Amino acid sequence: MALNDFLRPLTEDDPRRLESFDCGEPQMNAFIRRRAWEQQRNLINRTFLVLGDQPDVCPGFITLSAAHIETDLTGLSRRAAVYTTAPATLIGRLATHVEFQRQGLARALLAAARVIGQTLPIGCRFLVLHVEAANRAAISLYDSEGFRVPEGYEPEDGLLLMFYDLATRRPAGQAGLAFTGF
Ligand SMILES: CC(C)(COP(=O)(O)OP(=O)(O)OC[C@H]1O[C@@H](n2cnc3c(N)ncnc32)[C@H](O)[C@@H]1OP(=O)(O)O)[C@@H](O)C(=O)NCCC(=O)NCCS
Repeated sequence: MALNDFLRPLTEDDPRRLESFDCGEPQMNAFIRRRAWEQQRNLINRTFLVLGDQPDVCPGFITLSAAHIETDLTGLSRRAAVYTTAPATLIGRLATHVEFQRQGLARALLAAARVIGQTLPIGCRFLVLHVEAANRAAISLYDSEGFRVPEGYEPEDGLLLMFYDLATRRPAGQAGLAFTGF
């Protein structure tokens, strides 16, 4: 499946359509309804919406930014990484609508993020994210999709850093969906 059969970039008209978006997490709902467009317009991040059957119902979204991670946290050798930090894509936000949860949609969003990271026209070795240490559902999701907490890393302000190595070869079909680029 091509990425643009699954996702489309957020546009200026979307916030009013997203008033009904509910992932069960008020801060995440407020982000997509009130802040995502402004942040995207300011080039801070880009949000991609899952395409649904109905134009006014958004099944889920993912928000991405350019980022980096300390090489020493990743286990990648300094020789391979060249620099003390390694290039990454930050998954700043990820959420699925309550009516679409537990159907593999977040897994598909992570598969899409992997393809985006791997096909950027600049180097990008890792996906990184911060997750609340108390968010068992999200940690279970990321863990089962191959994200790792750096060895010895302790949560800061209740947030856990997790990363995924985009050079990892995943067995076909493990992510549920295989994407090609946009
Ligand atoms: C966390 C969230 C993104 C999961 O979305 P989803 O579309 O339901 O996830 P999937 O159906 O792809 O589930 C994948 C795996 O995630 C884990 N998971 C998802 N929801 C879970 C829950 N309520 N309890 C425990 N594990 C859960 C499971 O390991 C699941 O695999 P399984 O269904 O085979 O057991 C969604 O619940 C959500 O939007 N929550 C609110 C916002 C949020 O917390 N975002 C993450 C911030 S870092």
